[in-house]
Amino acid sequence: MKGRILSGMRPTGRMHLGNYVGALLNWVRLQEEYECFYEVADWHALTTAYDRTEQVREDIQEMVTDWLSVGIDPQKSTIFVQSHVPEHAVLHLLLSMVTPTSWLERNPTLKEMVRDLGLRESVGYGLLGYPVLQAADILIYKADTVPVGEDQLPHLELTREIVRRFNNFYGPVFPEPRALLTEVPLILGSDGKKMSKSLNNYIALSDPPEVVKQKVRMFITDPQKIYKGDPGRPEICPVFHLHRHFSKEEVDQIAADCRSGALGCVDCKANLANHINIALDPIREARRSLEENPGQVWEILAYGKEKARKVASATLGEVRQAMKMTY
Ligand code: TRP
Repeated sequence: MKGRILSGMRPTGRMHLGNYVGALLNWVRLQEEYECFYEVADWHALTTAYDRTEQVREDIQEMVTDWLSVGIDPQKSTIFVQSHVPEHAVLHLLLSMVTPTSWLERNPTLKEMVRDLGLRESVGYGLLGYPVLQAADILIYKADTVPVGEDQLPHLELTREIVRRFNNFYGPVFPEPRALLTEVPLILGSDGKKMSKSLNNYIALSDPPEVVKQKVRMFITDPQKIYKGDPGRPEICPVFHLHRHFSKEEVDQIAADCRSGALGCVDCKANLANHINIALDPIREARRSLEENPGQVWEILAYGKEKARKVASATLGEVRQAMKMTY
């Protein structure tokens, strides 16, 4: 028996190199070993963006176009939209009954969001319950493995606590899922901060070759390396971090030549842009053919919805049995 995976992303539109190296490449690989469910977490997006719903449809379409373009395969995996599977909401409600609010209030990810987004007293009931909804996402498929980055570990720990409490009351319905921590090489953006859409420091998978070249040219490098001959420190350079992934064969030479001063930043960046463009070519090609028929993405999501609902409604049936709510 193959293990079962569930992972998800909030719909953020077109994917960038950070999403690709940090998550999607791993998702593609996992398809060979696991039965995978990949979810577009559109309800999770609403926990903070409830006042900006007009963009969500397009963000879903663009994000899933990229998922498919990098090789997430609807024949192998179930690709679906969270809000297409209302069973998530029912399970979320039931789990909310056994989840003490004190567990949610101490959630470090929530504290970060409140700080970063300046939310203060405007934390909605939905945002407080974010990890309960995430637990429902995982448990409705009885997934045993959840590939996530380090930032999601507190959420997964909460899922496990909810499972223990639920099973304690109603019997062993859910397995305790384990996190599959992805070894994520740090992907920094043009400003040296973590690559992200909101900081506008990213390179999109769908950027044309000329745009990639131009964006790489704008990247900061080691501020102590001003002239070509100056010795550089690759370990703090965002351009070098990208080389680590996209120029694997040359990476030791690049580091040595940067340190010695033999390699200047201009040439180093041109080389990186070439390597990124070679890697992105097949992805851009796949996107072009999906763009010719945009209905295809929604057909794939409709197919995923059917597959997901079958599993989800079976689990919900078991939950009703266990909770003696079959009247
Ligand atoms: N919270 C995750 C994020 O922000 C997205 C997500 C929603 C998720 N449901 C999930 C991740 C279930 C793993 C499992 O990236």
